Amino acid sequence: MPMIRSRSVLGALCCIALGALASASGNAADSAAAKEKAEMCVACHGQGGISQTENIPSLAGQPDQFLQWQMVFFRGGARKNEQMQPIAEQISNEDIRALGAYFASLTPPKATQDDNPDLSRKGAEAAAGRRCASCHTDTYAGTKAVARIAGQREEYLVKSLHDYKSGVRSGGAGSAMTDVAYPLSEEEITALAHYLAHL
Ligand code: HEC
Ligand code: HEC
Repeated sequence: MPMIRSRSVLGALCCIALGALASASGNAADSAAAKEKAEMCVACHGQGGISQTENIPSLAGQPDQFLQWQMVFFRGGARKNEQMQPIAEQISNEDIRALGAYFASLTPPKATQDDNPDLSRKGAEAAAGRRCASCHTDTYAGTKAVARIAGQREEYLVKSLHDYKSGVRSGGAGSAMTDVAYPLSEEEITALAHYLAHL
């Protein structure tokens, strides 16, 4: 397998898993099955993939690949969460493919009115200084394995930046986020999360 030159065995395993996931194509039966499977997700991730619950992310409009990777990470234990792991353990590669496509096709959350434009301005400056858009795209909608961060729940953005910074979450794609989050100050994290949540 000449394509795999990951720095870790775990990385290599994930590549193989995702390669297998990407190799089959979806069809109408798949999408009906995905919708049914997605019923399992509504209680936590909300109707239409838009979360109403603290510390649970919205999934609607996330890039398909990002969603698939995260499910693979939870299932394999590379990403740890008491609530998500038992769910991920029950889903097959086929489910992961179908669920990724399904949630990626849903309309992303609409930002609520910004109650603190000053904080958003600081967040915008931090995002520019830290070059967040260079990976997350100019609209922060994400692409491929890079997450959508525009319109995500504010406290979940804070939580995930803390998780990367502390090493609780290592992430895929060469662990880019660990390097990004490590130097961020608490002030920057607060401002970034506020800014991004209101896009
Ligand atoms: C019991 C509640 C619960 C259920 C049910 C649940 N999830 Fe989750 N999910 C979570 C929590 C909590 C997180 C955030 C974990 C963290 O903080 O790292 C999460 C995170 C995720 C993520 C990562 C998203 C991101 O932005 O990082 C994906 C993808 C995901 N869930 C998919 C699903 C799918 C698909 C289903 C249904 C098959 C599902 N979840 C069902 C609680 C749940
Ligand atoms: C070098 C590319 C790169 C840069 C620069 C970058 N990111 Fe990321 N980001 C990623 C990747 C890749 C992921 C998905 C990682 C994973 O698998 O956990 C991600 C994930 C995230 C997540 C988790 C989203 C979720 O739903 O779980 C947040 C929050 C985030 N980035 C915020 C930022 C912020 C804020 C900045 C700027 C300070 C930034 N990123 C800069 C590549 C990047």
